[in-house]
Amino acid sequence: MVLDSDIATAVAHLRAGALVAMPTETVYGLAGDAMNPLAIRQIYATKGRPAGHPVIVHLGSDADPNEWGEMNPLAQTLTEHFWPGPLTLIVKRRPHVPDEVTGGLDTVGLRVPSHPVAQALLGAFGGGLAAPSANRFGRISPTRADHVQADLGPGIMVLDGGPSAVGIESTIIDVSKHKPCLLRPGAIDRASIESCVGPLGTSNTPAPGTLKSHYAPMTSLLLSHSPEADRRRLEAEGRTVAVLAATKLDDHARNLYGELRRLDALGVDILIAEMATNVGIGLAINDRLSRAATKLSIDE
Ligand code: TXA
Ligand code: MG
Repeated sequence: MVLDSDIATAVAHLRAGALVAMPTETVYGLAGDAMNPLAIRQIYATKGRPAGHPVIVHLGSDADPNEWGEMNPLAQTLTEHFWPGPLTLIVKRRPHVPDEVTGGLDTVGLRVPSHPVAQALLGAFGGGLAAPSANRFGRISPTRADHVQADLGPGIMVLDGGPSAVGIESTIIDVSKHKPCLLRPGAIDRASIESCVGPLGTSNTPAPGTLKSHYAPMTSLLLSHSPEADRRRLEAEGRTVAVLAATKLDDHARNLYGELRRLDALGVDILIAEMATNVGIGLAINDRLSRAATKLSIDE
């Protein structure tokens, strides 16, 4: 549980340029003052993330996103439908937004999270919080406070807001160009966005979250449409195996990263993850699973 006094302590840390891990409805974020370049550098250092990757600016429901970026009519329409919630919009930046936040791009990613603890923190802080997922670079995103502690150690204050309700990172739409583009699938699916703003394009702008290898466990990961058959085949070859079975889509997304972490710690030879049905959030689940599997096929 998070107390008012925890929020006050967290705000004091943030104002002093330190970092705080905050719960959001998607995954936990490693937050720092978005107007403080030193805090942003600290985020990169703590995550072990290469510099030059842009980070998302999180805003409270009462904040004015126009102070951070150009909220054109497309952006306005999407915010009316989906904020607060698991949607990040890429818009043209305002000049005062630090290069450390934008990765030197002329755009900035903005999101108003719906998690009540994130909202309480943002409301009390009063400014924008830059926050990538609170994991070491390239590892599985955290969906619980203890995941953050396991990854980043005891030096970071973690606000424990319970398990993340969505479980995978926000949908990212670039609305800074003539035609809106889907950069990362998430819980708010393409059809829901398209019903608001018409057909989405596919961007060829490379973004770090779209690296082929990302979100990866240590154990080799096999994606499968028939996990039990694959289990029998691999066990017959003498390999030890753990299976992450598909469930109802929302539950599958919510449990995905926690289950990957748990199964990764078992020390088996191979993890088998059952692919989700390719609809709605299932597309986002399969996107994350294929990134998690790619690293291993490169390494092997
Ligand atoms: O759900 C989420 O979005 C979580 C929570 C904490 O809010 N955050 C998150 O942050 O996933 P991160 O840094 O792990 O992923 C942010 C993604 C990256 O792929 C980054 O390239 C992209 O957002 N991004 C941020 N600003 C961008 C920009 N100006 N242009 C293009 N992509 C951008
Ligand atoms: Mg991340």
